[in-house]
Amino acid sequence: MTDRIHVLGLCASPRQGNSDFLLDRALEVASGPSLQIKRFFLGRKPLAPCDACGAHKALKGECRIKDVFQEMRDLWLEADVIIYAFPVYHMGIPGQLKSFLDRLGNSLGYYFPSDDPPTYGIPRLMKTMGFITQGAHLYGGQDLALSYMLNHALLMRCIPVPGDLPDSYIGAGGWTGGYPGQKSLQELYGQGDRDTLIAVKSAQQVVRRALETALIIKAGLEVQKQILAGDRSYGFALEKLSGD
Ligand SMILES: Cc1cc2nc3c(=O)[nH]c(=O)nc-3n(C[C@H](O)[C@H](O)[C@H](O)COP(=O)(O)O)c2cc1C
Repeated sequence: MTDRIHVLGLCASPRQGNSDFLLDRALEVASGPSLQIKRFFLGRKPLAPCDACGAHKALKGECRIKDVFQEMRDLWLEADVIIYAFPVYHMGIPGQLKSFLDRLGNSLGYYFPSDDPPTYGIPRLMKTMGFITQGAHLYGGQDLALSYMLNHALLMRCIPVPGDLPDSYIGAGGWTGGYPGQKSLQELYGQGDRDTLIAVKSAQQVVRRALETALIIKAGLEVQKQILAGDRSYGFALEKLSGD
């Protein structure tokens, strides 16, 4: 095992705007020789929604629809830490992100070797996840969007990490003061706007805590690997540990 940590910053906005701004500021605290940081911009290339074809069962967990999903899924699987940054849409997460999660959750259930005939199951993937969101309004649904993503983490057998209270409750959240512009948060930050300073601070806390947690998980897996090897739901995490 090395102490190398693969970080994926996943921005789920169709435009280069406020989510990008928060993600960039947040990832500023992630530096060091053992970190490999990649970014992915979901929403800027076409990604189809799940059409419930069920073909992934016969395709060993591969999604029949070929688009940007496969590239993103591979980066997602490679990562130890995934930081999602996304705008609030309709008091929830954007459709592009939901489409990715639907296809990921369904197809990965048959992606890992299992019984013959294969049965649906997600191993304990043990990735650390942090969430950063922002919307145009103060009570615009940030908490709802964050809660949705917490369930995503649990569903994928991953570990969601908040920042620190009182700035970050279940993830980082901000609002653009009612302005719809792409640069709204950047401008508010430049003006020293208190809420935006807190949004940036909490986004950075989320990244810091996620990195720490990933190191703790890796160390724990290393120490416990002989015991855990007897439980195949840890197979993915242990294989990844020896490959990193
Ligand atoms: C389709 C759509 C739905 C939106 N719904 C909400 C909402 O429910 N609550 C909110 O606070 N802002 C909402 N907004 C505003 C965006 O969250 C806001 O402009 C945000 O800063 C966009 O982030 P971005 O610059 O990263 O794209 C919505 C915007 C769009 C385009």
